[in-house]
Amino acid sequence: METEGKYIKYRGLLCPKETHSEDSLKYFEGFNTRDDDVIAITYPKSGTVWMQEILPLILSGGDFTSVHTVPNWDRVPWLEETRAPLVLDNKPSPRAMVSHMPYHLMPPSFFSSQAKVIYVARNPKDVLVSSFYFHQMASFLDDPGTFDEFLEKFLAGEVLFGKWTDHVKSWRNNDLGNRILFVTYEEMVKDLRGVLRRFLDFLGREMTEQSMEQVVSHCTFSHMKNNAMSNFSMIPRDIMDHEKSPFLRKGIAGDWKKHFSADQEEKFNTTIKEEMAGTNAKFPWDEE
Ligand code: A3P
Repeated sequence: METEGKYIKYRGLLCPKETHSEDSLKYFEGFNTRDDDVIAITYPKSGTVWMQEILPLILSGGDFTSVHTVPNWDRVPWLEETRAPLVLDNKPSPRAMVSHMPYHLMPPSFFSSQAKVIYVARNPKDVLVSSFYFHQMASFLDDPGTFDEFLEKFLAGEVLFGKWTDHVKSWRNNDLGNRILFVTYEEMVKDLRGVLRRFLDFLGREMTEQSMEQVVSHCTFSHMKNNAMSNFSMIPRDIMDHEKSPFLRKGIAGDWKKHFSADQEEKFNTTIKEEMAGTNAKFPWDEE
């Protein structure tokens, strides 16, 4: 596999060396998917750690032990990252995982399994803003430069896991039928309880009303920001510097409005619209 500065280039996609290795990517390729696995798929900065908080609570029927005692990267590992080979094979079923991989790069066992997927999409403008700050605080990523420079890179797909549009399109054009549920970060911000209900129905799980209330309250931004198992505060400061920008930064929809100039908005909209043409994809942010 090629390397490029701080990154490994995997099938054309930039993956940070800090969290990916040749071995972990080989493990990913040969991954043994189980039928009752649940995988949350996200383009980076779309709500991955949020899903790492919610899924174990659903799969355990509202048991808070793991979210209070196990860091998110071991609780719900990234399939392609270095922790996966160390923790996933020994995890009892049902396992929850996350991944940033596009559909066509998923391992063969995924396609022949009955594993379920929750795809979380987020307004790409807010993804860009979130990623811009993430690149400032994470020393294992390239300096983003100015917001304008980073916007150009984002639109060109010269960022982690390639173009946002390619990622979203790959997962929308698939044959997974009722094995996949699409939600947006914005729906989660607006009505987490309603989205939790959809997750429970999709995964065929039950939860009492009281447990649902507790899960929603535990998974709020302010609560997660204070959970050391979920806020990356255990990571040394020379790797993630929360003084520069906290990982759990703002947790809102629409922060892009404070960052984009009219020209940048125009350029961004035109590019995304062109690349999404013909997909029939409708998102809550299209109306903005
Ligand atoms: P911001 O930088 O806009 O605040 P990922 O986990 O995919 O890297 O995404 C990180 C983004 O999700 C960050 O966005 C983070 O604050 C947000 N996020 C994480 N948990 C959240 C929660 N409980 N509520 C709202 N946003 C959350």
